[in-house]
Amino acid sequence: MAENHPKLPCTAAFLLTLFSLISALAALEPNTFSRHISPSSLGLKKQEKLSHLHFYFHDIVAGENATAVRVAKAKTTTDTSPFGAVAVIDDPLTVSPDIGSKMVGKAQGIYALTSKTEASLLMAYNFAFMEGKYNGSSLGVMGRNPVFSAVREMPVIGGSGAFRFARGYAEARTHAFDLKTGNAVVEYNVYVFHY
Ligand SMILES: *[C@@H]1O[C@H](CO)[C@@H](O)[C@H](O)[C@H]1NC(C)=O
Ligand SMILES: *[C@@H]1O[C@H](CO)[C@@H](O)[C@H](O)[C@H]1NC(C)=O
Repeated sequence: MAENHPKLPCTAAFLLTLFSLISALAALEPNTFSRHISPSSLGLKKQEKLSHLHFYFHDIVAGENATAVRVAKAKTTTDTSPFGAVAVIDDPLTVSPDIGSKMVGKAQGIYALTSKTEASLLMAYNFAFMEGKYNGSSLGVMGRNPVFSAVREMPVIGGSGAFRFARGYAEARTHAFDLKTGNAVVEYNVYVFHY
């Protein structure tokens, strides 16, 4: 066999040498932008915690103190066919359904009417906490919210501050909905793993 292909082993050895040389040069490449580090170098504990947060979200769409404002719509968007509408929110989060109760933060972001056949929203917002040990920390939520379902579940996709590396989910239940104004109070239970 080898006698029939006398050049093959030689060529293979040459290519191998060349490959090793290129790999060695690549390892010396000084312009690298990533490296592995230990979790402890960021002060991360060995084990994550699981936290449960509970609060009420006030979506006020009507009146001079509205916290949700429509910023865009499609040509075909109407009150009865709201597909294509987009709103920006700065909705207060309080410890009880009473808007005058203690505020723990705001839900800041956007939602869009993304279904042509039902009242379903794409929610993309942050829970910006302003109280206690979570003051200044945030959780990012991105999910689907079919508003007339009893329970809507939305992924918590990350966080900042106390919630770095957070992941989990938020459960939303409508506590009160004013058909006349469109204002809503929504109960939230949020479950997150974080360090
Ligand atoms: C809007 O907020 C102001 C200041 O807090 C308050 O005086 C006023 O009554 C509010 N208006 C409505 C319609 O709730
Ligand atoms: C939250 O943090 C901000 C900025 O550090 C501070 O001004 C504010 O008083 C804090 N709020 C509470 C309720 O501790």
